[in-house]
Amino acid sequence: MPNTEVTIGSLKLKNPVLTASGTFGYGDEVKELVDGSKLGGIITKSLSLKPRDGNAPNRIVETSGGMLNSIGLANIGVRAFIEQKLPYLRELDTVIIANIAASTLDEYCEVLSLLEHENGIDGYEINVSCPNVKEGGLNFGTNCDMIAEITRRLRPLTTKPLIIKLTPNVTHIADFARSAELAGADAISCVNTFVGMAIDIRTKKPKLSTVTGGLSGPAIKPLALAKVYEASQAVNIPVIGIGGIMTWEDAIEFLLAGATAIQVGTANFIDPTAGVKIADGIKSYCEKSNIASVTELIGALDAKRDNSILSSWL
Ligand SMILES: Cc1cc2nc3c(=O)[nH]c(=O)nc-3n(C[C@H](O)[C@H](O)[C@H](O)COP(=O)(O)O)c2cc1C
Repeated sequence: MPNTEVTIGSLKLKNPVLTASGTFGYGDEVKELVDGSKLGGIITKSLSLKPRDGNAPNRIVETSGGMLNSIGLANIGVRAFIEQKLPYLRELDTVIIANIAASTLDEYCEVLSLLEHENGIDGYEINVSCPNVKEGGLNFGTNCDMIAEITRRLRPLTTKPLIIKLTPNVTHIADFARSAELAGADAISCVNTFVGMAIDIRTKKPKLSTVTGGLSGPAIKPLALAKVYEASQAVNIPVIGIGGIMTWEDAIEFLLAGATAIQVGTANFIDPTAGVKIADGIKSYCEKSNIASVTELIGALDAKRDNSILSSWL
């Protein structure tokens, strides 16, 4: 039986598969369909201090090989999450990571502090990378100093793992990964959605109310894989790979590129059990390939670093 455990800071995940923020709700919406305890962990929808309605419709568009969204961080707010959602999550035998979004530094600190008083949260993922909100969002995520500042402010507030979720909408993601690491992050998540758009040629109008939105799904997999490879070459903390992972084969590619764990996002909208299937697939791949521990796959890509064009950026 292969060992499928991986470690993110002080957190032990029973397998490397997490659900990506915003694609699995708060966990309880799918409780009839998926046994969450079979996942390595669940990452909640981004939580903000106050409830948010998000952006006006239309805020989802299907594209070739993916989807565009401009949900705009709609969520019930951290206090309602604690009252209504956390009791269910607390009972699940899996790791629970709260994803936090905010428009100011103080707001990030306040949300984390409120959650820190509660049992049942094992770690935090900090969203500094939402491409479809005006305040915060990409203004934070595309500024290395801001990433460092957010991490430094949050670090003393918790001993639990602090994971910074990076945007791919930058030239050299290695710089951003390093900023988070130097400021005290335990891990980085890589990546959030790519800025994209779609146009209705009959009306000549953008298909999303916000004109642009975040592209996710299979279309972004090769792009995300390269970002994960670059980031993992630049830091010593774990990188959690995200972007278009639909199958266990996709997940293995991300592990080989350097990810310690992976997140499943858009795939959940097609099949909420995708994460569990991917976890099973990774396990049987290890079994069939005589791999004793899934950790043997992490960064095991057989490529000469000198040959990589990315190396000149690192
Ligand atoms: C509908 C939707 C809502 C999302 N909401 C959030 C969110 O609230 N917070 C966040 O950090 N990422 C959010 N994301 C980004 C995903 O967590 C993930 O980073 C991205 O979709 C790429 O992974 P995928 O290609 O597997 O979907 C959202 C993505 C989608 C499609």
